[in-house]
Amino acid sequence: MSSYVLELLDGSHDRAGFVSGLDSVDHYLREIARGHMEKGVSVTRVLVEAEAMTPKAVLGYFTLSNITVEAREWSEAPKGLPRQAVSSVLLGRLAVAQASHGKGIGSMLVASARQLARETIMRTGGVGLVVDAANEEIVGYYARYGFLRVVPKGLRMFLPRVSLEAGAEIQLG
Ligand SMILES: CC(C)(COP(=O)(O)OP(=O)(O)OC[C@H]1O[C@@H](n2cnc3c(N)ncnc32)[C@H](O)[C@@H]1OP(=O)(O)O)[C@@H](O)C(=O)NCCC(=O)NCCS
Repeated sequence: MSSYVLELLDGSHDRAGFVSGLDSVDHYLREIARGHMEKGVSVTRVLVEAEAMTPKAVLGYFTLSNITVEAREWSEAPKGLPRQAVSSVLLGRLAVAQASHGKGIGSMLVASARQLARETIMRTGGVGLVVDAANEEIVGYYARYGFLRVVPKGLRMFLPRVSLEAGAEIQLG
C-alpha cells in the first residue's frame, strides 16, 4: 500500500502533468500557484507518494489563504458578530488527479485543510473555513464534510469554527 506525504508546492513537483478534469484548477496549479506562494497570496500543498522521484507526480492539492467575510447574516455563523468583516480561512482550490479519483484522496485533503484551518484559527482567530464550490455538483461533495451553504442556492459554503474542532486529526499513509 502506498504512503503519502503532504508537501508545500515547490519546483520538485510535476505541475504540468496534473490533470483533474476541471480546467480552472489544473490551470491554477500549473500557472498561478507558485507565484501566489512567492507573493504571500496563498499557500498550496500537494499530496505525493512518499517514495516519489523528482519531478514528483502530484496526486492532489489544495490552497489556503486568509480572507475577511461579512458573516454577520450567515445562519451558521456565531451570533453577535461585529458589523465589520471578520477573518476566516479560505479553501480556495481543491483537486485530485483524475487517475486517482475515488480512492479517498479528496477526503484526505479536506481533512488536512480542516486541520490547518483549525490551527490557524486557534493562533490568530477566524470564524471558520470557507469554500467556493466550483459548481452545483461539488456542493454535494463539500456538504458531506459538514460545509453549509451561506445563502440558499449559492456556491459559497462555510464550516463554522466549532465544527473544525471535532475530528480534524489525520494520518497520512
Ligand atoms: C471532487 C474531487 C476533489 C473528489 O476527490 P476524490 O479523491 O475523487 O474523492 P474521494 O475519493 O475522497 O471521495 C469521497 C467521497 O465523495 C464522493 N464524491 C466524489 N466526488 C463527488 C462529487 N463530485 N459530488 C459528490 N460526492 C462526490 C465519493 O463517491 C466518495 O464517497 P464514498 O466515501 O461514499 O465512497 C475530485 O473529483 C476532483 O478533483 N474533481 C475535479 C476538481 C474539482 O471539481 N474540485 C473542486 C473544486 S471546488
